[in-house]
Amino acid sequence: MEKFILAITGASGIIYGIRLLEELVKNFEISLILSDSALYVMKLETDIKSFDEFKERFDNPKIKLYFEKQIDAPIASGSYKTRGMFIVPCSMKTVSAIAHGYADNLITRAADVTIKEGRKLVISPREMPFSIIHLENMLKLAKVGVIIAPPVPAFYNSPKNIDDMVNFVVGKLLDLMEIENGLYRRWDG
Ligand SMILES: Cc1cc2nc3c(=O)[nH]c(=O)nc-3n(C[C@H](O)[C@H](O)[C@H](O)COP(=O)(O)O)c2cc1C
Repeated sequence: MEKFILAITGASGIIYGIRLLEELVKNFEISLILSDSALYVMKLETDIKSFDEFKERFDNPKIKLYFEKQIDAPIASGSYKTRGMFIVPCSMKTVSAIAHGYADNLITRAADVTIKEGRKLVISPREMPFSIIHLENMLKLAKVGVIIAPPVPAFYNSPKNIDDMVNFVVGKLLDLMEIENGLYRRWDG
């Protein structure tokens, strides 16, 4: 079974990461990394109010769950093959660390590995507005081939609710990793 890495960091929009996980796990083995801040923001923003609740909801042998401190996990090495990595949502702190090769936790190390091995890295950076520091860091990543896909929903597909908006963004993220999906209605002219 093909493998992907999904990291969820402590930016707003944890719901995007959760929805992406639900889709990915249907067909792939997922190494999932939760940052410490992601756990905090998840409790604030979603209906998952504790880590135990999260574990219960995603109790699936296809999900290998790691915390940011587990720097000895298989995904910390390029010898562990994956098809690519998503970071959704991606905080400006994590963007900055990756842009500077500062691989001090499992998320930034796995991203560093993904880039050095020439694998696909799709990140969904979330902040508003972006400062020049944020933009320069994202530009640096884009220049080495990282796909910068902020969680910006479209309105041409007439979303009726938050689910529609989340599914649009997640569908686009899957498209960028070349994963077939029917999560959103495509523009057909
Ligand atoms: C409720 C809440 C929302 C946040 N939203 C964002 C955000 O949208 N973007 C961002 O860059 N940081 C955001 N932060 C700050 C990050 O959580 C913080 O910078 C953290 O150190 C990121 O660490 P991580 O990338 O390891 O998860 C938010 C924090 C809280 C508590």
